[in-house]
Amino acid sequence: MSNPSRSSSGSIAKRLYPLLRKALFCMEPEKSHHAALNGLNMAHRLGLSRLMAAPAPSKPVTTLGLTFPNPVGLAAGLDKNGDYIDALGSLGFGFLEIGTITPKPQPGNPKPRLFRLVEEQAIINRMGFNNLGVDHLVAQVRASRYQQQGGVLGINIGKNISTPVERAVDDYLICLDKVYEHADYIVVNISSPNTPGLRTLQYGDALSELLAPLKERQLQLEGRFQRRVPLVVKIAPDMNEEEVGLVAEQLLAHELDGVTATNTTSGRVGVESSRWANEAGGLSGRPLTAHSTTTLSRLAMHIDGRMAIIGVGGIMAGSDAVSKWRAGADLVQLYSGFIYAGSPLIAECVEAYV
Ligand code: FNR
Repeated sequence: MSNPSRSSSGSIAKRLYPLLRKALFCMEPEKSHHAALNGLNMAHRLGLSRLMAAPAPSKPVTTLGLTFPNPVGLAAGLDKNGDYIDALGSLGFGFLEIGTITPKPQPGNPKPRLFRLVEEQAIINRMGFNNLGVDHLVAQVRASRYQQQGGVLGINIGKNISTPVERAVDDYLICLDKVYEHADYIVVNISSPNTPGLRTLQYGDALSELLAPLKERQLQLEGRFQRRVPLVVKIAPDMNEEEVGLVAEQLLAHELDGVTATNTTSGRVGVESSRWANEAGGLSGRPLTAHSTTTLSRLAMHIDGRMAIIGVGGIMAGSDAVSKWRAGADLVQLYSGFIYAGSPLIAECVEAYV
């Protein structure tokens, strides 16, 4: 039987978001990002964020040793500093991933660095890990109530731009140490196209030299805190079949707990005629859907159920989420689709999960 209060707040959200989007899309993209999140925070404090939520049915999923209320999460990068955890947590997501966070605060790339390709339902960003540093994020997580209320929180970690890529492991270890006791799972982001050299960490010796010390530290921290926090690696879609196989082999060899596929692409297929096509950065949204799902299914073939897979990239409708689950994802995440379709997309994806 349907819950009348749930369906009425769902239909309000469905009618409200197109209007809100019209207003937000009149603003410069980065300004509208902050306006939307600050507005959501305020609405949440006033007890009104439920109006923006289209609460999803309960569809618990157990993976990574955790139980998620539903398998549709928020992808990393939208709440880099953990400033909006409780407000975002009220929208019906089954989990939130905050970050990417780095050891020290850093401003990111010069603006403009975020572009909306509306006709293509896409985004190009070269934010460059703008963030307030790991200590700020930890304070925000401590102040939030989301986890006490049963929310599952992932923390995505990266390296400062000033740290040479050969010393990247130092930055990941600093972040791992600081976030371990506060995270439900931790994601090692080695796939942003906007930090020079970062993606080289996905290959060969560089990958094993990164994974070995991280895994060792995870085991030490598990002993210290008497709690295992799963470690996940986030990869790019811009790899051929052989490269995907090699990454999968290494993740399995180092006994990682999971893998997220994928980050944004450096390709421009599907947006060639956009005025923003030549802007540097990672492309996300509709043009990424098929490309990202291909990477995911190649990965799933190699992993063969031996590790959890989070599918992200171009989920703009419930049917795209279904394609990710069919390709082998245990969980999915939204970013660009959430910008274009708003919170009703969360419930649409959860409802499509069988
Ligand atoms: C991102 N993404 C991202 N990923 C990550 O691991 N750390 C980050 O800090 C960011 N930052 C970020 C900023 C912006 C503006 C966008 C659009 C994206 C990548 C994101 O989490 C996701 O993997 C991709 O965007 C693909 O998913 P969608 O957007 O096609 O649903």
